[in-house]
Amino acid sequence: MKNILILSSSPNDDGLTAACARAAKAGAEDAGAVCRWISLNEHTLERCRACGDGWGTCRQSHVCCIGDDFDALQRQIAQADALVAVTPVYWGEPSEVHKVFFDRLRRCEATAGEKSRLCGKPVVCVAAAGGGGGGTVTCMEQMERAMQHMRAVIHDRIPITRYSREYQLGAICAAVRSLAER
Ligand SMILES: Cc1cc2nc3c(=O)[nH]c(=O)nc-3n(C[C@H](O)[C@H](O)[C@H](O)COP(=O)(O)O)c2cc1C
Repeated sequence: MKNILILSSSPNDDGLTAACARAAKAGAEDAGAVCRWISLNEHTLERCRACGDGWGTCRQSHVCCIGDDFDALQRQIAQADALVAVTPVYWGEPSEVHKVFFDRLRRCEATAGEKSRLCGKPVVCVAAAGGGGGGTVTCMEQMERAMQHMRAVIHDRIPITRYSREYQLGAICAAVRSLAER
């Protein structure tokens, strides 16, 4: 895998999510991959408008009609060979920013079938939780379901909390290194 895209979705520049993204980037670069890390929180992303009677341009042309940063991010995904999605766990779910982006992406890609921009592409999903880590499983379940709808291939799922931080950052680095060598 030459070109790995990391998408994170935390407002904190120096929190656990950012540490996970940095570990993923280190793993990709160890394996000689070109790696780009994008923080979705730094982009303008509206929620899905559920156009028409529930479907808009996403259904037929697999693009979104909203003129914000979504389109450029969707193009980055098309160009990537593999994806790393890192979200903080909020209420046992991915962050709102993660959901806004992946809700719209799913509509465009799930309807494209084998032409999904993620079809066959390996993905590492990382859920960064608080101390107890309650809700990590349900968060990961949502991430996995969206990836399956878009026909991505899950390479690994990694939960991390502040207690498991030290060893799980190593696991993220190793997982993305193995993704890059895939
Ligand atoms: C609104 C909100 C909801 C949260 N819900 C959960 C949760 O359900 N389970 C959990 O383990 N941690 C929860 N947390 C804690 C965060 O997952 C944790 O602090 C995480 O490390 C935040 O990532 P960051 O360091 O990148 O900000 C929540 C935090 C916030 C702000």
